[in-house]
Amino acid sequence: MLAGGSGTRLRPITHTSAKQLVPVANKPVLFYGLEAIAAAGITEIGIVVGSTHAEIEAAVGDGSRFGAQVTYLRQEAPLGLAHAVLIARDFLGEDDFVMYLGDNFIVGGINGLVERFVTERPAAQIMLTQVPDPRQFGVAELDATGRVVGLEEKPRRPKSDLALVGVYLFTPDVHEAVAELKPSWRGELEITDAIQWLIDRGRRVESSVISGYWKDTGNVADMLEVNRLVLESVEPRVEGKVDDASELIGRVVVERGAVVERSRIVGPVIIGPDVQIRDSYVGPFTSIAAECALAGSEIEYSIVLPRASISGVRRIESSLIGHDVVVTPAPSTPRAHRLVLGDHSQVQISS
Ligand code: DAU
Repeated sequence: MLAGGSGTRLRPITHTSAKQLVPVANKPVLFYGLEAIAAAGITEIGIVVGSTHAEIEAAVGDGSRFGAQVTYLRQEAPLGLAHAVLIARDFLGEDDFVMYLGDNFIVGGINGLVERFVTERPAAQIMLTQVPDPRQFGVAELDATGRVVGLEEKPRRPKSDLALVGVYLFTPDVHEAVAELKPSWRGELEITDAIQWLIDRGRRVESSVISGYWKDTGNVADMLEVNRLVLESVEPRVEGKVDDASELIGRVVVERGAVVERSRIVGPVIIGPDVQIRDSYVGPFTSIAAECALAGSEIEYSIVLPRASISGVRRIESSLIGHDVVVTPAPSTPRAHRLVLGDHSQVQISS
């Protein structure tokens, strides 16, 4: 599991935290991957970590909550996906393995893929998906029979719209390839080059095309969309306190320690632990993380990260609000906006 690297694309949210911990329905995206791996029967998990290791280790622990044993593998700098395989060499030994990119979200898990790999045992098995802008991905070129003949990392002129999804299955053959790689134009040891090395030497590389894939691209719209997707299947559950003057409609989760007073919550919505919601409206497809406070406000189709506070604001929509953010109305005179915004923030104000 790769959880190193530095998150530059989802900034400013990932200026201060690991991008693999960005929450989807109040759960770090990394956890969905760990659950998918464990569900496929893989219980020895090495997590490659970099400068955000402390945060990742605090969140994941020893892996027992996933029914797995986690070993942390320290990568001194994000020198590429194949470099991560290189530093995991001793951990991996002579085993076949799954490599899963910690910021990828795959709907439906990986059980089928792992089963197919175990039966067919190609040198490498990759997943592809159609994307609107392949230039931000590894891109596969297939021949007329659907066999992968070429892979290119972030090509300027992509040969297809089939992007590599961040889950790869390998036999130990890949170590031979990785050992011979040279850094690419962007200074990284590319896993696409390692797979190309296998193809060039006639080793078997299998692929399958999937749908239901999401990857952060710094695109808040995508994050809100995957949050929506996950919330759609959430089971309603109320463990916090909801007073009689409040109304919960549809799939609503209210976690332990949360308080909802004089408010209307229209699901699917998840309200995290110790959140306080008073005199507010929370609309569909919204995730509010732990210890947030909402008072006299309206919010819909949004993600709010831990400890943010929003008061007296009508109406927030399609928004991603970071850790410890404070949103309040401006004093009514003079009519002006007062902003303290981090670098690279994006704000749309209707006035
Ligand atoms: O998401 C799919 C794409 O992932 C593929 O289409 C590309 O072929 C593949 O190279 C990769 O592209 P990115 O450039 O988007 O990868 P990113 O730098 O975002 O890293 C993916 C994950 O791996 C992320 O959780 C950080 C972690 N990582 C990355 C590098 C470069 C590490 O742990 N160590 C590293 O050295």
